[in-house]
Amino acid sequence: MARTNTVFFCQNCGAQSSKWIGRCPSCGEWNTYVEEIIQHETSKNKSPFKVHKDSPKPQKIEEIQSGAEIRINTSDHELNRVLGGGLVSGSLVLVGGEPGIGKSTLMLQVALNLKGIKVLYVTGEESEQQIKMRAERIGIVNPDCYVLAETITQNIFQHIEQLQPGMIIVDSIQTLHTDYIDSSAGSISQIRECASEFQKYSKISNVPVILIGHITKDGTLAGPKILEHMVDTVLQFEGERNYGYRILRCVKNRFGSTSELGIYEMQNTGLREVENPSEILLSHRDENLSGIAISAMIEGLRPMMIETQALVSSAAYGTPQRSSTGFDSRRLNMLLAVLEKRSGFKLGIKDVFLNIAGGLRVDDTAIDLAVISAVLSSSEDIPVNQKICFAAEVGLSGEIRSVNRIEQRIAEADKLGFEKIFISRYNLKGISQEKFNIQVIPVSKIEEVFSRLFG
Ligand code: TYD
Ligand code: MG
Repeated sequence: MARTNTVFFCQNCGAQSSKWIGRCPSCGEWNTYVEEIIQHETSKNKSPFKVHKDSPKPQKIEEIQSGAEIRINTSDHELNRVLGGGLVSGSLVLVGGEPGIGKSTLMLQVALNLKGIKVLYVTGEESEQQIKMRAERIGIVNPDCYVLAETITQNIFQHIEQLQPGMIIVDSIQTLHTDYIDSSAGSISQIRECASEFQKYSKISNVPVILIGHITKDGTLAGPKILEHMVDTVLQFEGERNYGYRILRCVKNRFGSTSELGIYEMQNTGLREVENPSEILLSHRDENLSGIAISAMIEGLRPMMIETQALVSSAAYGTPQRSSTGFDSRRLNMLLAVLEKRSGFKLGIKDVFLNIAGGLRVDDTAIDLAVISAVLSSSEDIPVNQKICFAAEVGLSGEIRSVNRIEQRIAEADKLGFEKIFISRYNLKGISQEKFNIQVIPVSKIEEVFSRLFG
């Protein structure tokens, strides 16, 4: 007989309680507890000491075969790299992102491009016809790609049993529903149970499963922190809706590093991989404009040149506005304070707007010097020469600090035809400048940079 009881779950962190609580003791969020009904299968052999006959036995670690992990080449180079060299067999991958960013497009494209492996695309959000229309738009034909419009996991597993696919994509985890639990699709306990069914399946069958998940307004995966613990890899698909660029980031990876980044461009015919990001991130200007500075950044293992644009104007109202897109606004305020103190510019009575071109979000502190230069360039209305770039952090006392992997940054700037790069004097050690055509200019204080740039 089945026994039902109700449990309250925090919709933010998944904490559980037998009664309603206003504030979650685990994550501190208010009003997040929601009642869910759970049905337990009552089993007679409840004793925890009774071992099931199929249960695996303990093995000596030295006797376990290590077997190199098998990776499936997805024929999408960006995705392969972000995953750490391909999709690992038997892994469970979660792809998160805001609605409309292109998760379904990306995954359908992966499914259509995979040759020689049966792929099952389970869709709970769209009909088969809608998927077909999207596939026509992408314009790739693959006889091994199957689409299933179903949301009940028991039925899905039945179809999987018959079809025996080599890869499964579930769009999305929030639409799935398991018969074992009574609460509605998208609730914490449903998501947790459905994900765990797919987790078990992927481990037993060695078939990789990709789950698509939605993201809430504040940028976390809807519902489930718990989901992040269950899966092997968490990918985040992001980008500014107005720009064409999309970025695939790895948040967690049991089979590789999390520092890699994949860049795509959304086109009429699906997503295009962007292999050389620097070329698209730099606007090719014919004339020098003030307020623009370029920095040599590293995202993951890849160096790329990124354009910083600043606009400084007199504050129209009493309080000056500070706004930044793609860059931490607290860090911008700090840099402005350093600038004010060191250079005597009265930025306190100015509005400052900062924008990282291409809709990118930058965390690398090597952008600091470019930010400061762009702000000053706009404030003075003197352009920074297009052939100059920057790669250095700025400290609170105005000192120019070193950044990691400087040689790679210089090499990228050199390759793209820049003539000068400003770096920290402390970065000079160990780099062989003869290798490069670019002139390396070591600086140790921001005043030095200003006098060299603006005379
Ligand atoms: P979609 O994959 O449906 O997003 P998600 O699954 O993350 O909600 O992508 C939807 C957007 O992408 C939609 O605004 C249309 C756009 N798009 C293109 O610009 N080109 C294309 O070839 C496709 C298939 C979609
Ligand atoms: Mg979708």
